[in-house]
Order: sequence, then C-alpha cells, then structure tokens
Amino acid sequence: MAPPDIALADSALGEVTGAEIVALPVLPGDGALLLGPGAEALAEELGVDLFTVLDIHRATGKPGEVTEHVVLDAANLRNTSLVKLLLVGVGDAGPAALRRAGAALARRGKGHVTAATSVPAVADDDGLAAFIEGIVLGSFGFHRRSTPPPTLPLEQVVLTDLVDTGVRRNVVERAMAVAGAAWLARTLALVPSNEKNPAWLAERAVELGESAGLTCRVWDEAALAADGFGGILGVGQGSQTPPRLVRLDYNPAKIRRKTGRRVPHIVLVGKGITFDTGGYSLKPADAMANMKRDMTGAGVVLAVMGALAAVGCRVKVTGLLPCAENAVSGQALRPGDVITHYGGRTTEVTNTDAEGRLVLADGLAYAAKELRPSALVDIATLTGAMKVALGMRTGGYFANDEALAGQLRAAGEQSGEALWRMPLVSDYDERLTSKVADADNAAGSPGAITAALFLQHFAAGVPWAHLDVASVGDSPVDAFEWTSGATGFGARVLLAWLGSDDPLAGVGTSGALEKTPEKG
Ligand code: BES
Ligand code: MN
Ligand code: ZN
Repeated sequence: MAPPDIALADSALGEVTGAEIVALPVLPGDGALLLGPGAEALAEELGVDLFTVLDIHRATGKPGEVTEHVVLDAANLRNTSLVKLLLVGVGDAGPAALRRAGAALARRGKGHVTAATSVPAVADDDGLAAFIEGIVLGSFGFHRRSTPPPTLPLEQVVLTDLVDTGVRRNVVERAMAVAGAAWLARTLALVPSNEKNPAWLAERAVELGESAGLTCRVWDEAALAADGFGGILGVGQGSQTPPRLVRLDYNPAKIRRKTGRRVPHIVLVGKGITFDTGGYSLKPADAMANMKRDMTGAGVVLAVMGALAAVGCRVKVTGLLPCAENAVSGQALRPGDVITHYGGRTTEVTNTDAEGRLVLADGLAYAAKELRPSALVDIATLTGAMKVALGMRTGGYFANDEALAGQLRAAGEQSGEALWRMPLVSDYDERLTSKVADADNAAGSPGAITAALFLQHFAAGVPWAHLDVASVGDSPVDAFEWTSGATGFGARVLLAWLGSDDPLAGVGTSGALEKTPEKG
C-alpha cells in the first residue's frame, strides 16, 4: 500500500473533472455556517441548497465532521464522475483542525479513486501541511492478504483554489515527506516478526540510507562483540536471528560550507526489539500479542533519518538502531545474569522483560563517548507503566535539559503528536541499586521513571531526552489521523523538531551536566 498522490491545481473546484468525491470546507462562522470556495457554483449545478443540507444534518462545522450529499445522476454536470459531495467541518481552520478534516476526507473517500477539495483555500501553510498529513495518514493501511482488501483508499487528491501553487508546492513536498515518514514507521511496526528480524531491519536501514544519501554502518554479532556492546548482545543471544546495530549519518553539507562553522550534532537512538517475548521473564499471551511492534522506536528513527533533507534539517544527525529479538531458548539471558555495556558499566538483569533499556543503554553510551553530541534523544516502547500513566493518546518524555524539554513540547503541539513531560525524580535513583552490578535493570515502581533513571546514567551528562511511546505505539481505534494498530508515533514530532530553524536553541545551558548522577 502507498500514500495517495497529492496534486495541486490553481483552478476552481467547479472546474475539476474526473473526481468521484468533491469536498468543501464548512466553517462554523458567526451564528451561521460558511461554505468554502466552489460551493455556490456546485449548488447551482446540482440544484440543491447546501445550507439546507447542512441544516437537516445539524452540521456544526467542527473539525472532521462530514455531511454527505450523494449525487445520483452526474450525467449533466461538468464533472460527470461526481458521486458524493462531502461538506467537511474545518473548525477554526488551524493545523489541528485541518489535520482532522484531512483524515475525515480520506476515510469518507475510501472505495473511490480521486477526490478534489477546496479546503486548502481556507488554510495557511501550516494548515495546508496538516491537512495533507491528515489525508495521507487517514488513508494508511497494511496487509499481507492474498487478495486486496475490499475497500481501497483514495489514489489521488486534487487540491484546488490555491493562490500560489509554486510556493505551496514546497509546503506539499515537506508535508508528504513528514506523512511518508510516519507511514513508513507504521508499516515497519506492522511487518510480522517471521519476516522482520534484526538483520531484516538493518537491511531496510541500509536501503533507506542509500536512497537518502546517508552514510551507513552495520555491526553484526561479531562486530558487536569486538566493540563491547554487551547489552545488545545479551538481549539478542537467545534468538535464532542475531542482533545488529545500525548507524546512519545525515550531514547538511551545504550549510556547513556556507557558514564555515562547526555544525551541531544530534544523536537519535531507537529501541529495535523485533519481537519481545519477555525472555525467561515470559510475558503472558495477551501482553505478547502486539510485541512485533516493539521496534517502533527504531522504525521511527529510521523513517526520520530518511526525511531530514526534505524538512531542511540544518544540524548533523546520527541515528542509532540497536536491534535484537528478545527470545526464549537455552542461550537466552537468565534472571540474575550480569552484562557489561558499551563503555564498561554493568547491569544485573533481574527481569529479562526489561530488555529495551539494555539495548538503548549501549546506544546511548556509544553516542555519548564516541560522538559527544549537542543533544541525545532516545525513543522506545519502553514501559507498560507509561500506558497506565498517560493512556493511549499522549506520549511521555523525560529530559535533563530545560531547553530541550521545551523544544520537544513545542514540536509535539505543532506536529499533532502530543507529548507530556514526566519527572526524573532523582530520589528514586537508589532503587536501581544492585548487590552485584552498577544497576538493576528492573528497579520497580514507578516503572516509567525508574526506567528513565536507568537510561540517564548512560547519557553521561549530555543534554538528553527519552521518549517513552509504549502508551501511543498502538491506537485501539481509527480516530482522526490515527488508524487502529501501529501509529508510528514519534516520526512527526521528531521531524517537527529537527526541521525547525534552531532545534538546539538554548540546549546545554541549563546545567544538564551538574544534574546527572555520578557514573558508577
Ligand atoms: N516492550 C515492553 C513495554 C510495552 C508494554 C510496550 C506495553 C508496549 C505496550 C517492555 O520491554 C517491557 O516489557 N517492559 C516491562 C518492564 C518491567 C519488566 C520492568 C513493563 O513495562 O512491564
Ligand atoms: Mn520487555
Ligand atoms: Zn520491550
């Protein structure tokens, strides 16, 4: 399945032919509803009073509300293909509202090939981008059936009534890249684990790296052993399909040449557990059912790396994907085993189901030691506790740097992927104490916080943020731009941040170094 094609037209909605679906924006207005451009001409051609239609259906114009008018005979219309006129509520016409409107159009358009809409006429650039993201992500689907599903999403959406198609083409391209990254992250998460093992994920990364012009390096199990990645190796040692670490580098070469200054560097680390059985600390069947998606963090980092150029990212970005399958076998980690991470810190594995932090720790330690980045961000479906705390619509994050925290919160609001900051309560750090190692990997409750504190030791004072997306990796229902199942949550927020003018503004000035606990 592929995202729908988005075409731009400077013509009016009424001039479009060949579209089975035509969609008009409905604005709540002052007292009375307002309809967007093209309404009058269409109403006249159809011989219907569209305001009466809205009235009968008690339309309010709220974002994503759709009033449907079926066209029984289009033979005498200019657009002889017309089947349905959709009157789509756009609320305040801001990005959040238009994202919902776009997704609603995609849903109602299913089963048809082409739609045309004048909604862009009421949108500014951010609104247009959000509308497109809604259309693309609301169309998302994935299957491995032998025959196509009964209703397919729209193949093409024509955006009409655009004043300056030249300028807005850039907005469309950027929005398509962002939505495409989220689409890819969802797809990767849904690939079943009999296809998707660590080597498979590494191959996808190499492929994407090549097509996006990124440099790429893959550590196989021998290279991981030679370099001391004990966390990744330990988690992966029980599986028939051995672990991998992938490094992708994005370099905004043009900018460096222009300014002659050292380009700041950001490292992203994504949890790449291609299946999480829990290991010997085995998960019950219900909890294991969706664990093919436990590589969502790595999938998101991969997708983000591929879209950095399209969003005009001006900083150097390295993506690290520690990939392993957490399996059960005679070779698997046992509770009580002690592993040595990259750089030498040790962990007692009291619970083999707390595996994500073990692979992330290696990634963070490598980044901090070898790359000394200006900021370090990891993303992971890390704890069930985060799901309990925040439900399934909001991602949780931790940060040791105020400016970085603010940047991520703002990017969350802007992108439609809401993030809520959680506290790094340092008093709980003592719960990580182990009798035999530097830390215990399962320090108990509060589970999301003790997991974050475990990771913080490996960030070694670098401004760092940890996104725990266990709460939002899955959507239980189809809602707005979310389709039930994998969400790819994180791709849009990270691209909003990395594509902003100055993603590192103020970062590193709020004393992250002082606040980080001593390395044990
Ligand atoms: N992959 C899970 C976390 C998870 C739970 C993701 C639900 C998505 C939905 C993670 O590896 C895990 O098992 N975490 C344990 C940690 C515990 C053993 C300390 C958890 O949260 O229960
Ligand atoms: Mn687990
Ligand atoms: Zn896991």
